[in-house]
Amino acid sequence: MAVFQHDVLIIGAGLAGMRAGLSAQAAGADVAIISKVHPVRSHSNAAQGGINAAVDEDDTWEDHAFDTVKGSDYLGDQDAIEVLCSEAGGEVLALERMGVIFHRDETGHLGSRAFGGQQRARTYFVGDITGQALLHVMYEQLIKQGLRIYEEWFVTELIVEDGSCKGAVVIDITSGQMHVIGAKAVIMATGGAGRVYEPSTNALICTGDGISLAYRAGAPMMDMEMVQFHPTTLKGSGVLITEGARGDGAYLINADGDRFMEKYAPNMMELASRDVVSRSEQTEINEGRGVDGCVFLDMRHLGMDLIRERLWQIREIGIDFVGVDIVKEPIPILPGMHYIMGGIKTDVWGRTPLDGLYAAGETACVSVHGANRLGANSLLDTIVFGKRSGYDAAERSKNGHATMPGEDYAVEGEKKIRALLDRPLNGDRVAKIRLDLGKVMNEKVQVFRNEDQLKSALEDVRALKKRYDTVGVEAKGKVFNTDLLFHIELGFMLECAEMVCLSSIERKESRGAHYRVDYPTRDDANWLHHITCSYTPGGPQLGTAPVTITRWEPQERKY
Ligand code: FUM
Repeated sequence: MAVFQHDVLIIGAGLAGMRAGLSAQAAGADVAIISKVHPVRSHSNAAQGGINAAVDEDDTWEDHAFDTVKGSDYLGDQDAIEVLCSEAGGEVLALERMGVIFHRDETGHLGSRAFGGQQRARTYFVGDITGQALLHVMYEQLIKQGLRIYEEWFVTELIVEDGSCKGAVVIDITSGQMHVIGAKAVIMATGGAGRVYEPSTNALICTGDGISLAYRAGAPMMDMEMVQFHPTTLKGSGVLITEGARGDGAYLINADGDRFMEKYAPNMMELASRDVVSRSEQTEINEGRGVDGCVFLDMRHLGMDLIRERLWQIREIGIDFVGVDIVKEPIPILPGMHYIMGGIKTDVWGRTPLDGLYAAGETACVSVHGANRLGANSLLDTIVFGKRSGYDAAERSKNGHATMPGEDYAVEGEKKIRALLDRPLNGDRVAKIRLDLGKVMNEKVQVFRNEDQLKSALEDVRALKKRYDTVGVEAKGKVFNTDLLFHIELGFMLECAEMVCLSSIERKESRGAHYRVDYPTRDDANWLHHITCSYTPGGPQLGTAPVTITRWEPQERKY
């Protein structure tokens, strides 16, 4: 048991966490990053298609911002979107200078591809492994700068004293030892909660840890009803098939071979925004024009050369997971859980309303994505707001706290873990509850929602919480006790699910990814505001927060 101290503690070592770390260190802070996995195993790795920025001379950040506002169905905060888009170009060029080998066009300049919901091509990419390319370059920078990384350490609790967040209680997974890490500022960068759904495009580690830890510590969540279903996830496993494929010219076809997007989005077709494309696919499937619950993505006409150059990873995924070679056959896909637009409420510097606590990346809700995120704006979000939160946290840490937490937090933490390990086994299993949760969410809180299904999902989640309160941990050892970690993660997931259900029941309109068949239109008069969730011992308390409009008044959204 030990107590460590740093100026800035970053929880999570994906792109947001790493970018925050570099920026905080550059601003003079003593920084440490903690991650439950090796940093290059973080879920940012799975981002495929690219990162958006207005880099071309004839593009403007204002056009990018407008597309983002429209994509968000006017729920995004426009001051934050202006920051995101105006800083995008500089950040993409900075990434290139760090060593990211972005695609170049025939003239040798950075070459972009089209992505959905945007007036022009402004997505910069590395084949279909953009996240992986960025993550590895960022990791090289961390090593170069000598940042302290607590690798394969797991946070069980945030420490809040006198109204300020002062650090975290942690388990070193490799030894089972509990420790305290004190910090003058803590940045949550733990990614999303994708695995609350099953299947999902998200890695198994995306269990909503940061959202739940911050919620329990007293920070409010926002926009939790806004869950993005990506239009092209693979049949069965839910693995992502990048939107970059459609950007490069792939078609969506139904069982009759028709390009059905002609009916739903005649101008933008397959490149309408994600919520629109997902609903169109689901309508085709529901009305009997799918095959086995899927429609198809057709890439045959793109040819082997383009696929080899830009889409080789998804070709391998198709062959490995469903035995389909995209060069020769259309691949079966369907809308699947991909991203949570909601999360820990922050301002444009990553500050949460809880003093000393910051958040960046998918775990945060700035809110730049509002009710529907544009593809390739998530990598951008991690970089822009990771950097800003790192800088601000470093500045804040120059003042510090009068007192710092001691070892007693680890002693208490160990008692809680002991009690969990001593809990008798009752025949139920953590993995079973987790699977049941994923299925409930996937069936009842999905592309098309209605009151009865949402209420039934909430009841189911609460019943699963009761099962969770009595389920035991089968493995009793200290070293790499993943059974214990899965147990703690499931607690995080259930809390996230409850907030998603409650907020979805609350919002009685259709906006972006939240489509209510019982309230099928957008209702700006009553619902142009965010829904917030705050912790109470009896469950989440809902509230509201205003949407910031700077220059784009809400209009009807057409693609
Ligand atoms: O389709 C994709 O490549 C996903 C990108 C994103 O969600 O930003």
